[in-house]
Amino acid sequence: MTAIETISIRPFEDQKPGTSGLRKKVPVFRQPGYTEAFIQAIFDSIEGHRGQTLVLGGDGRFYNRTVIQTVLRMAAANGFGRVLVGRGGILSTPAASHLIRKHAALGGIILSASHNPGGPNEDFGIKYNIGNGGPAPDNVTSAIYARTQTIERYLIAGSPDVDIDQLGTQQIGDMQIDVIDPVADYADLMQDLFDFDAIRALIATGFQITFDAMHAVTGPYAKEIFVRRLGVDADLIRNAEPSETFGGHHPDPNLVHAAELYQRMMSDDAPDFGAASDGDGDRNLIIGKGIFVTPSDSLAILAANAHLAPAYRAGIVGIARSMPTSQAADRVAEALGIEMHETPTGWKYFGNLLDAGRVTLCGEESAGTGSDHVREKDGLWAVLLWLNILAVRRQSVHDIVTEHWARFGRTFYTRHDYENLDAAAAAQIMDGLGNRLDSLAGQTLGGLTIQQADSFTYRDPVDGSVAENQGLRIFFAGGGRIVFRLSGTGTSGATLRVYLERHEADPANHDRDPQEALAPLIEAAESLTGIATITGRTAPDVVT
Ligand code: G6P
Ligand code: ZN
Repeated sequence: MTAIETISIRPFEDQKPGTSGLRKKVPVFRQPGYTEAFIQAIFDSIEGHRGQTLVLGGDGRFYNRTVIQTVLRMAAANGFGRVLVGRGGILSTPAASHLIRKHAALGGIILSASHNPGGPNEDFGIKYNIGNGGPAPDNVTSAIYARTQTIERYLIAGSPDVDIDQLGTQQIGDMQIDVIDPVADYADLMQDLFDFDAIRALIATGFQITFDAMHAVTGPYAKEIFVRRLGVDADLIRNAEPSETFGGHHPDPNLVHAAELYQRMMSDDAPDFGAASDGDGDRNLIIGKGIFVTPSDSLAILAANAHLAPAYRAGIVGIARSMPTSQAADRVAEALGIEMHETPTGWKYFGNLLDAGRVTLCGEESAGTGSDHVREKDGLWAVLLWLNILAVRRQSVHDIVTEHWARFGRTFYTRHDYENLDAAAAAQIMDGLGNRLDSLAGQTLGGLTIQQADSFTYRDPVDGSVAENQGLRIFFAGGGRIVFRLSGTGTSGATLRVYLERHEADPANHDRDPQEALAPLIEAAESLTGIATITGRTAPDVVT
């Protein structure tokens, strides 16, 4: 008989989930009762969990294994019937989403802080996904947060650690625990969606691909899929051994943190195709020989070519993008005559549209792309769809991108991040502009005329729910746009994101450097907000 203990606690005030679950530094999670309080708040907020199945796994970062044991004991104490846990406590975020769907689980708990660094003093995160496999929507995260504010106890089984490194079935009391292979089901799903024979044939011609797993969760997935199933040379899969600290790096697949891959892809002897994924495997970076593909362009190009892959042969029904993502995909939707949706930042906002069959592809400027195959963005899926397209078209990434621009025009795009700002300074910038929105239309800044300015409100067309204050948008005559928004994923200070874009139809101008092509908008952003004056920062910390 396993004893169930009821432990008294007091609420922690700071357990409000952000864009993607609760993310804090490890020492915060290590406070006595802190992790347990949040897990109990999740269990208390989801109805009918007795006897149900829960999927559990994480990106393998520091503290992952400890929290896996805590969740297992607490799930048993709270009456779950069965937990499916990835061996070693590992599941990529898209693989977890797939397992929730495949096993009709009530939901899943994913332990990750995505692309943020890992280690004893770095970041950790806990996210709850619902039965469709997707991140909990606002009404669920609000209920969880409300519960954290009144919680007075948690339940935990007084059982020894579960052996999470052996495949097979174990028990805590009445609850069954299945330790499963984290890779196999996901790899099978990818093989169902894409033409592996065609990709294999492309690789057999000497087409070289390289993938950087960034010491994170995708290493084992990449080895199984690229090396074992597609015949890629194992040496071309970099940093494929997961580490609790991601080798001391940021597992963030952008040009700053994947600089080595970027430099390699820009060199004379670059492979034909380079890609990377983040800590938990949901983001992607795509670089062709000599050309970086922005996430916004990647979404548009994948949408225009998806029908070349078996899973999307019948065509896509619609596209959704987060509001700050460039409008490049909108032009593809228009050409295809399909629905286009603009949602707030955060994958959870795509869930209803996907469930209702209104969209097939979704994407975000923050390096997330995915489809209706799961309810999370999916890094390796994006890489494989690119490879499937390349295998059919037999052109270089460069030619596919430039042909796309020639047909649809190029949307020059950049994001400027100001990290770790003083919260008051960030609020001053956002409120300063927010309060003036109504007076901006008609004003001219350095030759650019403001057409319209607003604060983005999203009305979900499926359930009618409303999300307000999702970013400040400034639209200029001629199609330029600037968006200002505070990040919802940071763990220290405030991060201000400034998203800038403009469309250029003339192919003669498509080769320009985006920073230069967007210089007038960059100046307009400064004169609208006074970021430099207020923060003392003369340049953004990260430019993507
Ligand atoms: C996470 C979410 C994404 C979101 C991204 C950026 O990766 O899963 O949906 O786009 O964070 O969020 P932020 O609030 O930091 O801009
Ligand atoms: Zn991620």
